[in-house]
Formats: sequence, C-alpha cells, structure tokens
Amino acid sequence: MSPREFAKRRKQLMKMMGEGAIAILPSAPVRIRNRDVDYAYRQDSDFLYVTGFEEPESVAALIPGRGHGEYILFCRDKDPIRETWDGRRAGPEGAVNDHGADDAFPVGDIDDILPGMLEQCERVYYTMGVHPEFDKRLMGWVNALRAQVGKGKHTPHEFIVLDHVLHDMRLYKSRAEMTAMKRSARIAADAHVRAMKVCRPGMREYEIEAEFLHEFRRRGTEPSYHPIVGAGENSCILHYTENDNVINDGDLLLIDAGCEYEGYASDITRTFPVNGRFTAPQRAIYELVLAAQEAAIDQIAPGKHCKESHEAAVRVITRGLVKLGILKGKVPALIKSEAYKRFFMHGTGHWLGLDVHDVGDYKVGDEWRLLEPGMVMTVEPGLYIPSGSKGVAKKWWGIGVRIEDDVLVTKQGNEVLTRHVPKEPGEIEQLMEAA
Ligand code: GLY
Ligand code: MN
Ligand code: MN
Repeated sequence: MSPREFAKRRKQLMKMMGEGAIAILPSAPVRIRNRDVDYAYRQDSDFLYVTGFEEPESVAALIPGRGHGEYILFCRDKDPIRETWDGRRAGPEGAVNDHGADDAFPVGDIDDILPGMLEQCERVYYTMGVHPEFDKRLMGWVNALRAQVGKGKHTPHEFIVLDHVLHDMRLYKSRAEMTAMKRSARIAADAHVRAMKVCRPGMREYEIEAEFLHEFRRRGTEPSYHPIVGAGENSCILHYTENDNVINDGDLLLIDAGCEYEGYASDITRTFPVNGRFTAPQRAIYELVLAAQEAAIDQIAPGKHCKESHEAAVRVITRGLVKLGILKGKVPALIKSEAYKRFFMHGTGHWLGLDVHDVGDYKVGDEWRLLEPGMVMTVEPGLYIPSGSKGVAKKWWGIGVRIEDDVLVTKQGNEVLTRHVPKEPGEIEQLMEAA
C-alpha cells in the first residue's frame, strides 16, 4: 500500500479531531509463546491502519496543526547488535525518510517527550483497554502533569474514545483497500480449489491444512486465522482447529480458511464430499445452505440493513428444515421461537477488513446500520447436525455444512470477492473428478 494512502488516512482523522487535539496509538506488544520464543508478530490493526509501520515498540502521535510536524513516530533506535540478532529497524531517521513520519524520536525517550506534547493539548484521542500496559503509562504521564498543575502545568481536559472515529473510517474501504481485499480473496479462493483437487479419503485433516499454508506462504500471505479443517463429525464443531483426524470416505469436509494480504483478511468456507460425490442427504443439506447463502447475498446492497442477509438466510433455512422433516411446525412460529438455532446457531456474517471480525458498529442508535458502497461483509450460513441429534433421522447425522463468501457492497449491489472457488454441488463434483 502506498505511503500516500496512509497519509490520506491520517489527514482525514486529524481533520475530524481538529486543532488542540492529540491522538495516541501504541503498537501491539510482542507476545511470548513459550520461554524465549515469541508468537509471530502481528501489528495492532488500528496502528497499522494509521501508520503502515510494522515494527513493535512503536507509538504514533497525531497532533493536527503542530508546527514541527503533525505525525510523530516513536520507534526503536538503530542498534547494530540487536539488528544482527532480531532484524532490521527503521530508527527515527528511517521513520521520517521511509515511513512518512514528520518527526520521530527513539521510543526510549518517550517519557521525556510525550508528556510535553500532551501538555499542549486540550483533547486526547485514545483507545482504552486494548493494551493495558500502555494505558497505565499514559495515565502515568497525565497524572504527572496533574501533580504539577500548581506549578503552572496544563493538563488535557477531555479524553475521547479514538476507536469510535477510527473504526468508522475502517468500515469504508478505499480503492487501495478494495484492491488488497480482492487479492486476499483470490489467493484464499485458489487455496480452496487446490484443497478440493488434492483431497482423498484416508488423508489427515492437517495434510489439507498444509495445502493452505503452502498456498498462502508461497504467495506472500499468511493465514488470517487458524484454519478449520473438519471432516465428518468434526464439520459440526464451529471452531474446530485440531485438524488431526483421518478424512474418511463418505464424509463431508468443512474448511474455513483465509489469508491476510497487506494486513487485509479473507475468510472463506467451503464444504465438499471427501470422495468427490455428495450422498443424497449431504446434497439436500448442502443445497439448502447454498439457497440460504444465495438469498442472503441478494440482500447485500446499498440501503439494505446489515441484518437483512441473516433474516433472509433464517427464512430459507427454516423453510427448508421443515420441508426435510428436521423441524416440525409452522415456519413463522419456528422463526419466532428461533427453533432453527439448534442447527444454525451463528450469525450470517460480519464486517471484514484488517481484522477477520472487523471493526465498525452494527447499529446506529437503535437501528441496524444501512449498508453503503465500500463496506465488506461475509455471508456464511450453515447447518450442523451432529450424530446423536435427538428427534432427527439418522441419515442426517454427522452432516455439517457452512458456505462462506466475502462480499463487497458496490453502488449497484454487491461483488462477491471470493467467487473464484466453486460452490454449486455439480461444479464441485466436476472439479474433484477432473483432478
Ligand atoms: N473464520 C471465522 C468466521 O468465519 O467468522
Ligand atoms: Mn466469517
Ligand atoms: Mn470463516
């Protein structure tokens, strides 16, 4: 993503803040996996959105109207020894020359510099509670100023929740973000196609997971969340991540996997028969979920509210379950009593962006939010009928189906970003047979 994109975002944010304000954004902390091994570092999404800067131990400050530069970056100093061990650092000079900062300082000096900046401001934009360690430091700086009020020090008067403005910005994707999300969707779609092609009865779920990891890494991305690869009974566990069972002939395989490209997530689920042919009960459930998904996608358009897709999916699923004899009763009453929740217990979608479950309010006041061009949602109805389901005929047992696509709201309606992976049962069977 170009430096101009980040500069544009900062400008927009600072315009909303106005003069006399400071926004403070800390980077994500490094997290220990075990002993001296860290988890792979992932930058905080808000920090990344505003700065594009990937290094840990950084703090960004935005001060609209500051004479010496509005965008200040505190980052790790250059250190040849540490860089030999842990990798390159931009250093304050690099932050200015290569990363768009107007002014930069070693993060080790922040205690001496940031309080002075706070003192000049009336309003502080900051997100509390996400990085508790940093919350404490910020409170420490503010309290130190308060303690010196008698000596003429000034303290900010207002603390404003930064994520309220920032998350609203993140909800509307720019052209550059849409391009990144399309790329992310394309790579994940190709990985799903690859999985359909290589899957054979007798493999282990992790062998299929490995196909995703290989496809993601070979194209410069990484998983946007831990892949879910569940065969047979495991397809009925929504967040199954062990991925270590044998994939048996006659089972369905449910895969929920996406990647992250330039920080932007894709999130795709496909379900297909391990041996390449749906059984009649599998196909009946699959076609019902697919009909629900298509009805839900039809509801993704400007002016529709963000829960209309779920409501459409619920109607189709409930009607279908009654038709198949899995639910008994009148459809409107079953919808009202939420009887479908026994088999379809999650929502139909969520915002998608830098985070898989992306930020942004779903309600404005008491009303569901209306969709607008540039928003991206997933559409992911499912049905899960584990073995032993009481009152449900045995032929349905062990069937779990979810179908998930990533959908961009456009001026005309929508664009399914993940359309390159098939979902029609006939298309899936053809693809698997040809492999
Ligand atoms: N992969 C997480 C989700 O579908 O929401
Ligand atoms: Mn999802
Ligand atoms: Mn998913």
